Amino acid sequence: MEARDVPISIPALATEPQFAQRLREHLEREQLLDRCYRLQKVQGGHVALPVLEEKLSQLWLPQEIPCDLVQIQDPVPSRRVHRQTPAQKLREELQQLLGESWSEELERDVPHAWQRHGDLVLLSEDSFRAAQWENMGPVLWETVASALGAQRLARQGRVLPDGMRSPSVTLLLGQDGWVEHVDNGIRYTFDVTKCMFSAGNIREKLRVASLPCSGEVLVDLYAGIGYFTLPFLVHAEAAFAHACEWNGHAVEALRRNLALNGVQDRCHVHHGDSRQVSTATQPQTPCPHIASPSPSLSFQLELQDVADRVNLGLIPSSEEGWPVACRVLKKSTGGVLHIHHNVESLPVPAQSQTPVLQAEQASPEAANCDGEAQDPKEDREKETLGARIRPEWQTWAEATAARIQELLVELHGQLWCTSILHIEPVKSYAPHVHHLVLDLECRPMLST
Ligand SMILES: C[S@@+](CC[C@H](N)C(=O)[O-])C[C@H]1O[C@@H](n2cnc3c(N)ncnc32)[C@H](O)[C@@H]1O
Repeated sequence: MEARDVPISIPALATEPQFAQRLREHLEREQLLDRCYRLQKVQGGHVALPVLEEKLSQLWLPQEIPCDLVQIQDPVPSRRVHRQTPAQKLREELQQLLGESWSEELERDVPHAWQRHGDLVLLSEDSFRAAQWENMGPVLWETVASALGAQRLARQGRVLPDGMRSPSVTLLLGQDGWVEHVDNGIRYTFDVTKCMFSAGNIREKLRVASLPCSGEVLVDLYAGIGYFTLPFLVHAEAAFAHACEWNGHAVEALRRNLALNGVQDRCHVHHGDSRQVSTATQPQTPCPHIASPSPSLSFQLELQDVADRVNLGLIPSSEEGWPVACRVLKKSTGGVLHIHHNVESLPVPAQSQTPVLQAEQASPEAANCDGEAQDPKEDREKETLGARIRPEWQTWAEATAARIQELLVELHGQLWCTSILHIEPVKSYAPHVHHLVLDLECRPMLST
């Protein structure tokens, strides 16, 4: 909150001490309480609660709380007004450092928000861009780090359009960009200058963690640093995972993460292009050890007929992985595909949407997705997203189910059925584009 000048008097509601708590709750509920000032004792032993001047016209009071509108002279600012935010501290220290050369242009360049990864702060792409900052040398980054209570600093660039989601992050202060996060009890480490961190998707990771996968073999076609592979192994109790990833930096982080969480013996990391499936070898049993990293992208994914579950976590579309997913599914029993996709829907007035409740769509295995470390923003989004399955989502899911069925029939020369277990809205990308996950059950039909 910005500090503001203290006015000479402010409006307040004065009541007897025994009604103060109820009045406060009422004002908070109605968003009328002015939190910038403290409650104050006033004449007659009454307590005065500051109210927002600009909202006085909306003021209504329950009859059972007797009170009077008064003015508080020289109001006392609340503690939160005195507390300096890190953004204010940063601006002040930079202003001091620059002295007379401080300008409005420089002030606009000072960030108000950043990502914190332990002792490393990741600044946004548009911060400290003016030429003047560059001339300052290391003292600038030392001042910024000290104001933000960090040891290391990096600045974000654009995600490179290289299909590997490589970030163009520059390290400004410190020796390396390796950081660690704990998410739902799982430890993840990665180099912020080399790998993307998906701060979102928390609910999807929690949902995946709650799936009953005991004894199953998972193939993760786009493993990244293991955001989904790890919850499948650690919480969902998958017996074994094949994790495919073509970005060498992500592979390095993935290997470290498997070891950090003690599941390296239950995962085979395939370093290469997951579309390059070889049909030459057909391992029927999980690989008992981690293969050595393959530096070449001309590798062939030697997997077929092994998976009970396949995760296809690639957006905007994982369609290029569908034929591979069909190939790796167990031929005799089939399994479940988790297909990520961005689906566009038309803006529709709320009343005219098909009211298909998420609960009706959900499979029993998806029911329990509560847990710790939830992102409240994602929760709010989820409430809006989850309330209805939009017709376009259903249409996409049905078309995908039909296409996968075709692929399976072509591949095996026998009938397969596919059924939509669940459609999970993960995130919305404005306007009207939603990242969805379709849980699709695929089973071979028994010939009579
Ligand atoms: C969107 S990230 C997803 C990572 C993880 N599933 C997540 O949600 O955080 C996609 C990952 O797939 C990898 N990838 C994309 N296409 C690939 C391919 N054909 N073969 C192997 N990996 C691929 C990228 O390098 C990237 O790490």
